[in-house]
Amino acid sequence: MKIDGIPYRSVWVEPGDGWSIRIFDQTRLPWALDILRLTDAVQVAQAIRSMQVRGAPLIGAVAAYGVALALRQDASTENLERVVTELGATRPTAINLRWALARMRAALHNLPPGERVAAAYAEAAAICDDDAETCRRIGENGLPLIKAAARAGKCVNILTHCNAGWIATVDWGTALAPIYMAHDAGLPVHVWVDETRPRNQGAALTAWELGSHGVPHTVIADNAGGHLMQHGQVDLVIVGTDRVTRNGDVANKIGTYLKALAARDNGVPFWVALPHSTLDMSVADGVAEIPIEERDGAEVTDLTGRTADGRIETIRVAAAGSPAANPAFDVTPARLVTGLITERGRCDASEAGLRALYPEKG
Ligand code: MRU
Repeated sequence: MKIDGIPYRSVWVEPGDGWSIRIFDQTRLPWALDILRLTDAVQVAQAIRSMQVRGAPLIGAVAAYGVALALRQDASTENLERVVTELGATRPTAINLRWALARMRAALHNLPPGERVAAAYAEAAAICDDDAETCRRIGENGLPLIKAAARAGKCVNILTHCNAGWIATVDWGTALAPIYMAHDAGLPVHVWVDETRPRNQGAALTAWELGSHGVPHTVIADNAGGHLMQHGQVDLVIVGTDRVTRNGDVANKIGTYLKALAARDNGVPFWVALPHSTLDMSVADGVAEIPIEERDGAEVTDLTGRTADGRIETIRVAAAGSPAANPAFDVTPARLVTGLITERGRCDASEAGLRALYPEKG
């Protein structure tokens, strides 16, 4: 996608720069467009943990490059195993991270050490290309849902939660890909952007993405969605996901489950967009089995923003001394999901639906 008319991906290798990688520092967006240069796997792990890079597909892609950076320093099997383990431990919920690392390990493990570095960069680049194309297809497969809702030129109001746009993936995004395509095709769309406390990925990142692309949108408090649905102001919900189980349960940013409940109560279709790398067929029951990341309570008690004179500051909004809990994700049971939008088409959120699209998955 483009920023100020210049096409970007969310992670890239700068040619002639010693094979370091570049990312946008997402903790600084939308206030500053800072590009970070990562030169080793320790920096990659830190960028993932601190959420300078975030979004399920993107952390997988960046971790893949982290393996390549680690092997530049030491291409031994011991180092390969170590870096895969260390990067895999940075965030627990999104399965894309472990998917990308397993793919890297499988591609590199049996190679002689002298061939591993070049192969690692090639594999990481292939993961990125795959993600960009996969997300483009998710956009194509989600577009008919918006077209169907846009009958008689009526503006389609879509609610989304968190950021599942191009900066959460390598390009295009998952939940936002159909919206970008609808907008580009001239369909009248408007997006209700949940602010997505505590880290405000909606208010900061999704709003910035949509605004940069000219897509009409409105930021709302996380608690506003149910009210808007009751008053007929939401035609459909589209969200991304960090892990989909074989029965169609969906882990996504904390608060997604409440939106699904409100959508069901109001007869609003609730769609989930995912790439193949988000599927975890090894898990049967998402609520019982998906590990939910618990982050620092300071993300709840404090808020970061830009002051009128341009400084980026963090202030405490909770009462002094009050502790905070911060589960970062929740699981929406498959029964509340209208359907899944994938790069292979749409399906029910069920084992039968997923197996029909992904017969090769174990
Ligand atoms: O904690 P984050 O910001 O990494 O969480 C991101 C989300 O929950 C997204 O909705 C999900 O990763 C889908 S990204 C295409």
